[in-house]
Amino acid sequence: MAKTKRIGIITAGGDSPGLNAAIRGVGKAALSSGMEVIGFRDGFRGLAENLRYPLDKTTLAGILTIGGTILGTGRDKPHRMEINGELRDVTDLILRNYDRNKLDALVCIGGGGTHKNALRLVDKGLNIVTLPKTIDNDVALTDATIGFDTALDIATEAVDRLHSTAHSHHRIIIAEIMGHRAGWLTLGAGIAGGADVILIPEIPYDPRKVAAAIRARSKHGTNFSIVAVAEGAVDGDTGLAFEAAARRKKNAKNKLEKQNAKRELQDLTTRHNGNTLRLAKELEELTNLEARVTILGYVQRGGTPSPGDRLLATRLGTMCVELIADGVFGVMVAARGEGAKPVPIADVAGNLKMVPKDHTWIQSARRVGTCLGD
Ligand code: F6P
Repeated sequence: MAKTKRIGIITAGGDSPGLNAAIRGVGKAALSSGMEVIGFRDGFRGLAENLRYPLDKTTLAGILTIGGTILGTGRDKPHRMEINGELRDVTDLILRNYDRNKLDALVCIGGGGTHKNALRLVDKGLNIVTLPKTIDNDVALTDATIGFDTALDIATEAVDRLHSTAHSHHRIIIAEIMGHRAGWLTLGAGIAGGADVILIPEIPYDPRKVAAAIRARSKHGTNFSIVAVAEGAVDGDTGLAFEAAARRKKNAKNKLEKQNAKRELQDLTTRHNGNTLRLAKELEELTNLEARVTILGYVQRGGTPSPGDRLLATRLGTMCVELIADGVFGVMVAARGEGAKPVPIADVAGNLKMVPKDHTWIQSARRVGTCLGD
């Protein structure tokens, strides 16, 4: 019989479909192994403020198919959390609440930011296991993240639906799909939905090449085009400016240089807001076709998780409890093919899984004649 352990769970970062399935997977497996489970609300804030949420047979029932997270989530960081209007380092509060609640382990379900925050707590001695979730699919060292499959369905359906209206009006319709840094969702939905142009952050685009592809379609009698564009897609010049600022941040020799580079990145990001609308205008001018924009936004994060996400969340959640029972900590439960594998949180934190330029999805998109803007 396993030694009874008490596990805490948080969901942190942007929500994604399948979080409740993950909470249920961890919770039910833990209860059936004789462990106790406590949820904490609203990500790392709940740990700092001891916002407990009881997780038992009753509260874990009926949540598998529900979107969002019953625990609530947030983007707060333990080392910079706003408390009563002031930014504070609440790491010690979190450590104290971990002890006060007699936790033996903490499960953090989250994406890139969550892994950086979890690592800080691992370094302070907490027993942490993480699960990868984000609709962006950009967590390093895992084949899949909880939420991506559902978002892919939603974005693909949107691209499908835009075809008939673009066709009827002989228009360009640009669908903006989530993903600031990684283009998995846009690329996946673009390929699955048959978009004519797919623009992702990993491949800076040239608007003239996009326009040429659209004009070539018109020349062959197809007077409409669907462009799937990621939130973070950039043109060539902007891409170079982002790269240079990121390099300056990485190579900064002191705090001031780092702060300046960070500010530069922030300014570039602010200037990039509204890029899809500017792209639409540019394409109208270059093609003489009307262009319209549809920003899919948070629709992609809401609603019922797909069977694929429920399955992934249950697989990873139950494996997480096995690892805790075996005393394996400081790891993320990564999806590997049909199975799951623990990988060090230290290797995940700070690393993003971007779309490789020679990825098979990219090759397939090119082979079916999709313009990638380069
Ligand atoms: O990381 C998931 C994500 O949905 C991104 O695709 C998007 O850019 C971002 O979160 C939006 O974040 P927020 O919920 O903070 O507006």
